[in-house]
Amino acid sequence: MRLLHVVGTRPNFMKVAPIMAAAERWNRESVGVPGGVVFEQTLVHTGQHYDRAMSEVFFEDLGLPEPTHFLNTGSGSHACQTASVMIALEPVLLETQPDLVVVVGDVNSTLAAALTAAKLQIPVAHVESGLRSRDRTMPEELNRIVTDAVADLLFTTCRDADENLLAEGIAAEKILFVGNPMIDSLEMCRQKALGRPILASLGLQSHEYAVVTLHRPSNVDSEEGLRRVVDVLQRLSHMISVVFPVHARTRRRLDDSGLAAGLSDCATLRLTEPLGYLDFLALMAQARLVLTDSGGIQEETTVLGVPCVTVRKSTERPVTVTEGTNRLADPDDVDDIMQVAGRALGAAASPSRPELWDGHAGERIVRALASWWDPRA
Ligand code: UD1
Repeated sequence: MRLLHVVGTRPNFMKVAPIMAAAERWNRESVGVPGGVVFEQTLVHTGQHYDRAMSEVFFEDLGLPEPTHFLNTGSGSHACQTASVMIALEPVLLETQPDLVVVVGDVNSTLAAALTAAKLQIPVAHVESGLRSRDRTMPEELNRIVTDAVADLLFTTCRDADENLLAEGIAAEKILFVGNPMIDSLEMCRQKALGRPILASLGLQSHEYAVVTLHRPSNVDSEEGLRRVVDVLQRLSHMISVVFPVHARTRRRLDDSGLAAGLSDCATLRLTEPLGYLDFLALMAQARLVLTDSGGIQEETTVLGVPCVTVRKSTERPVTVTEGTNRLADPDDVDDIMQVAGRALGAAASPSRPELWDGHAGERIVRALASWWDPRA
């Protein structure tokens, strides 16, 4: 069975790595089994993220193979980025003729790849399907809805995602609850990450600092939003030491607006370049608090048992609030963010494992792919 995986951005890499590794293990175990399914894997990188710190480091940290095809599409408006991926991917799909295209997450590359394959009548599997924030101003929400609408196999990470898909009229037999492959990567790398010297190199003590990541357009693209981010960073760093690995988008906005200057004279606030997977995992695992607007970090902190404040009005991952360590804070209200952060800092938190977030989602996905391809497998 020819699988073609498409990745494009930082949060895609840790989702695809466990699936590719599980397919390799499947192949090794099926050597000599007559009539068994064997996977032939191709990895396509769209190039949506291209800086070493946003891409290559993750391939090294996660043990991902070199991409077979690098499309070099880069940055641009949503339409340009989506269209560039479609234009560059189509000839690759025509040439390689995969039996299934696997897309993960909700970024523009995910949507573009799913649409390109579906238009060529190539079946599509969507991993991390069915998440809904119900906020259509989020570009990712549109990407999720459209990707799920054209996908043939929809792999979900939580039960509420199944319900969302059923409510949108997607046939039950296409939906497979398999757990969370991002947690597979976390479990695979946790020990190795804890051996990294990142805390010492940043002068931090375990459980005595907060990690901040903020990069959503809704938080950093407007000047008011960016001012609130700066305000939060300054106020939080009066409560606890803060490390802020700055995403490329946020860095550009801070530099263009001149607001970065207001952050340079605070001894308890460290701005760093974007970190690799292992360093960031080490930093998160030993933090007292994480304050973020990311999607995946809400899930990782739940499993790590680290209090998480998500600076967003809604989340497509409600299980991290109901079962995990996550709390939402109003992005338009700095006082609310500080109050929620204060409560999170004061509360006890312990690791939680939503159903099937057990480190074996990749294997379940591969088994499901094999039996989709050959029901006797
Ligand atoms: C994208 C995803 C978002 C995800 C995030 C993770 C979409 C719509 N958004 O947002 O869901 O949470 O990735 O990081 O797909 N840039 C660089 N170097 C890079 C990549 C980007 O400097 O390697 C800069 C460029 O100025 C670019 C900007 O970052 O214009 C934004 O990049 P883009 O891929 O458009 O969106 P992200 O904000 O990264």
